[in-house]
Amino acid sequence: MTYKLFEEMRLLRVARVPHRYARQVRWLPQIGDVVPDFKAETTNGPLSFYEWAGESWTYLFSHPAAFTPVCTTEMVSLAANVLNFDQRNVKLLGLCGSSLEDQRRWHGDLSRSLGAEISFPMIADTQRILSQLFGMLHWEESCEFAIRKSLLIGPDRKIRMISETPLLVGRNTDEVLRSIDAVQTVDAYNVGVPADWKKGQECLLLPGECGEPRFDHWHSARIVRSYLKFVANPWRSAPRLDRSSGTDTAPIAAAA
Ligand code: BEZ
Repeated sequence: MTYKLFEEMRLLRVARVPHRYARQVRWLPQIGDVVPDFKAETTNGPLSFYEWAGESWTYLFSHPAAFTPVCTTEMVSLAANVLNFDQRNVKLLGLCGSSLEDQRRWHGDLSRSLGAEISFPMIADTQRILSQLFGMLHWEESCEFAIRKSLLIGPDRKIRMISETPLLVGRNTDEVLRSIDAVQTVDAYNVGVPADWKKGQECLLLPGECGEPRFDHWHSARIVRSYLKFVANPWRSAPRLDRSSGTDTAPIAAAA
């Protein structure tokens, strides 16, 4: 699919694509694409993706290697937020270039030294087969390691969000959760989500051709321009889980 596009671009002379890229990339995952089923060895045992994901969303994330500093901080942060992913019906699935043995030793150390229990499965992608499939190998960034790429996959197996972060920059778990909230809000209510939005805040009415919001919004419309209309938080304020204790905390304040 992607290869054909490159070929057309070359023939039409509309863009220059690095030669190596055009030769190697067969599929570059895009939002809306269906993720193919795959089997993998993970730290929790063998996994068949479709069967494992079931009716849940999946947050599939790559990270470069075990026993490295940035990865350590990401894993600790994800482990502390497992309940927050759970609350959103999202399963975590990691993809790492290190062997199962190395990852298990590392997880043991994270547990002993940092109190982080890694309960979610981590794939050992030592041959880089899945990393290649998902476009996680960026050769100009590293010849050895996958970059930090994340895909949010819906229960229908469609990719709903993709993000890419360089090797030495850790991802922000709050931002991941916020983005999941945004995608799920659009799905649930057919509204737009404004810049810098957090769950509980106002959303946006969409242009007519996108259809009406799926909630009673008329009493709450705040019209700024003919093309910019806000509606009140469609969710009732949802409790968030406190990272350290896993207990409910005060809901995020609803705006307006
Ligand atoms: C890190 O996670 O800190 C890291 C991973 C791969 C290479 C260098 C650093």
